[in-house]
Amino acid sequence: METRAFIPLMIPDIQQQDIDAVNEVLRSGMLIQGKKVEALEEQIAAYLGVKHAIAVSNGTATLHLALVVLGIGPGDEVIVPALSYIATANVVELVGATPVFVDIETQTFNINAELIEQKITPKTKAIIPVHEFGQACNLETILSLSQKYKLAVIEDAACALGAKSGDSFAGTQGVLGSFSFHPRKAITSGEGGLLVTNNDEIAKKLRVLRNHGIEYQNGKMDFVSAGFNYRMTDIQAALVLSQFQRFDQILSYKQKLAAIYFEELQETDFILPTVPKNHFHTWQSFHILVPENNDRDKLIDKLKQRGIGVNLGAQCIPNETFYQKKYQLNCAELVPNALKANQKGLVLPLYERLNDSDLKHICAILKEVVYE
Ligand SMILES: Cc1ncc(COP(=O)(O)O)c(C=O)c1O
Repeated sequence: METRAFIPLMIPDIQQQDIDAVNEVLRSGMLIQGKKVEALEEQIAAYLGVKHAIAVSNGTATLHLALVVLGIGPGDEVIVPALSYIATANVVELVGATPVFVDIETQTFNINAELIEQKITPKTKAIIPVHEFGQACNLETILSLSQKYKLAVIEDAACALGAKSGDSFAGTQGVLGSFSFHPRKAITSGEGGLLVTNNDEIAKKLRVLRNHGIEYQNGKMDFVSAGFNYRMTDIQAALVLSQFQRFDQILSYKQKLAAIYFEELQETDFILPTVPKNHFHTWQSFHILVPENNDRDKLIDKLKQRGIGVNLGAQCIPNETFYQKKYQLNCAELVPNALKANQKGLVLPLYERLNDSDLKHICAILKEVVYE
């Protein structure tokens, strides 16, 4: 029998030139936010076609800052999808506002925009659509609701740098777009995040807020607000900037890998992802649903025993302990699609260090153990 090393869910593809780029910063002695952060911001803003990019310490700090800069706080409500990484709702709690959960579409796992209007109240201040698993949301309905009710749209594109709906990049249509460079993303700074906006005033405030509330007046420091230390270091920026030079290559390789999964799993009972027409999916996660009568958690264990690192996809946030205790929502009734995606979802390995043969091997094991 063929023996293979364990295939983890993700290994970032850090190459020699990325290590060299980090070493250059280390040797320079200029480690904190500096020229590399500036270059990262310039290059990503140009790629996305937005006026401003502001790099920060991670993709939770980005969302937190977004809410702070918009003045969202106690007494306010923010609409979020019921299915996402927990951070999307945690930041709403952290500013003292209330997350209002909306169910997702079964096919894309993104927020169901048709269900949003019924959740809008006089307290609603913002909507945070999430571009889940690297698939861009269709924002048309959400943007028109935001105009009708004067709500801010903060796009959580943590997993979706480069994803598109039509001609629009994920993260570029709301007042703010938020990205993460966590190691499970296509390019990584270890920890890192970035906000984008076309609003000059918001961008200026964000730069102040991420850096202890410091504004520079004629070269002198003025502490104009109670800010955070949410800066990205130049070490992190150099690492991710170096990978960004081959970003298009990375995304197109991931398309090829995803096509192998579709080919190999099409005749099975797994429910495969749907990519709407005119959408570009970046495959941050290749997220499938296990067959109806299948125990997903047992399947995860069986796959791990057979050398395949897999995991569940995302949280059904109102069903997690903190949110259940606080809001006691009946998720099966209120957000059934999010609950199902959380209980039946499975993410398969998909990254540059894998090849055709690895993916075929993963699929063969998957088919073998699913009904064992
Ligand atoms: C949708 C979503 N939002 C926010 C975050 C938080 O990003 P970070 O881990 O960089 O704090 C993640 C992380 O994976 C995420 O998937």
